[in-house]
Parts: sequence; structure tokens; C-alpha cells
Amino acid sequence: MKSFVLIAVLLALGHCQAAEVAEPVAVEGRSISSTIVDLLEVVRVLMETGYGPMPKVAPLEMKHRPFKFSTGEFSASGEINDFVMEGLNGFEVIIMEVDLIRSRVDFELNFGSINITTQYEVDVGSGYRMKRSGGAYMALEDFNLKGRISYSLGVISKQMKIKSFLVNPTVGNVASEIENLSKYRIFNRKLNEVVEEFITLTINDNTDFVSNYLNELVTPLCNDLIGDRSLSDIIGIITGAKN
Ligand SMILES: *[C@@H]1O[C@H](CO)[C@@H](O)[C@H](O)[C@H]1NC(C)=O
Ligand SMILES: *[C@@H]1O[C@H](CO)[C@@H](O)[C@H](O)[C@H]1NC(C)=O
Repeated sequence: MKSFVLIAVLLALGHCQAAEVAEPVAVEGRSISSTIVDLLEVVRVLMETGYGPMPKVAPLEMKHRPFKFSTGEFSASGEINDFVMEGLNGFEVIIMEVDLIRSRVDFELNFGSINITTQYEVDVGSGYRMKRSGGAYMALEDFNLKGRISYSLGVISKQMKIKSFLVNPTVGNVASEIENLSKYRIFNRKLNEVVEEFITLTINDNTDFVSNYLNELVTPLCNDLIGDRSLSDIIGIITGAKN
């Protein structure tokens, strides 16, 4: 989703760059903002249909996927089956403001519910072994992404570089209904509450950490993506005209 937003922003800014600049800057900023909002509507449809090499992500479906991880003492392996994620396309644009003078874009997107439903099997080992399986449902409700993209434009080459991409995610409510964490129903509910609280705190209380992490991850990725490609190349890739 983050990269979708970024691509829409890049396309709109690139478009403006190419155009003859006759309008006052503030008006132009507003018109680019609304272009971005329009592009996000296109993105929404592409998420639902998939396009070219990009698979459909709303809903995102996986029949079967094994996993394995270990950190020191702790290890787990297992598989998920019939995985479905819904809601990535259910965003509402709350804020989209392009400030051409300060070379930045402020945005806020809200997702009603991003949720997954799956069957799982897991084998956990950490001095003891534990096998669990069952169904699972998890949801992030009222999930909010508020952020700022700062960019620079090369004076001669007009090449765009992303300087930073800061996003603060927050979540209104987390729902976790994982079956079979415990054989005992009451204890199972408690364990799900622990999961809910852990996810809520991770998202809401570590926003600087999450934000810095995303910035360090996404900014170079986007600059790599733009790389030596021109904007028309990127448009070509998105519309499937090029590979
Ligand atoms: C899961 O998310 C979708 C899309 O946001 C929503 O329509 C659906 O109601 C959600 N499921 C539940 C059980 O809340
Ligand atoms: C929960 O685990 C028990 C024991 O492993 C198993 O018999 C049962 O089928 C599981 N429940 C579900 C819903 O998979």
C-alpha cells in the first residue's frame, strides 16, 4: 500500500512537471492533490483485479504456504492454508496535500478493516514442543496511515529523489480470534487478548520506531525503483506496456 501511494504521488508530480506551469503554485498544488486522489482510485481498482505481473491483492489469497523461523532458543515451523486477506482496497483518503514550495506531500489514509482468515498449523519448540492447529481470524480496524513524503527535484536533470517517507500508523482496534492456542476456552480468549494488546502496542506506542523503520526501508527502495527509469517508463510498467 505504501508503495502504491508513492507511485501515485510520483506520477502526479511527474505529470505536473511536464506540464506548462501557468497556474499559481497553490492552485497547482491543489490540482495535483486531486490528481493523486484520482490515481489512488485507479490503484484501488488494480488492487481488485491485478494487472500484468501484479497479482490481485484485494482480496489477497494463498492456498498453502509453509513457514519456518527461529530466533535463538525459540523456533517454529508450520503452514498456513486457505489464507485470505481483505480490506487493502478499503481505504478512504482523509488528507492529500501537495505543497510544491516545500516539496512535500502530506497524506492520511484510513482503512475500515484489514483482516485475515486462515487455517494454521504450527509446531513450536523452545526446550519443549507444542503443536497447534485450527482456524484464525485477525483484524486491524480503523487502521490509519498518516505521513509525509519529502522530495527533491534535480535542477538540470529534473530527476526526482525521495528525501524521506515518514508514516505514522495507528490502529483503533485489533481483533484476534485464533483457535486452539489453548485447549481451554477461557485461557484461549486470554491468549488472544495478549495478542491483541501486543499488536495494538506495537503499532500505536512505537510509532517513531515503525516510522523510522519504514523510512529507512522504503526511501531507498523507491529511489531504486525510480533509478534511471524515466517517469514514462514507470507509467509503462504500471499500465503493462513494458516489463
Ligand atoms: C474484513 O474486511 C472486509 C473489508 O474491509 C470487511 O468488508 C469485512 O466486514 C471484514 N470482516 C469482518 C468479520 O469484520
Ligand atoms: C484443535 O486441536 C485439537 C488437538 O490437536 C484438534 O483435535 C482439533 O481438531 C483442533 N481444532 C481445530 C478447529 O482444528
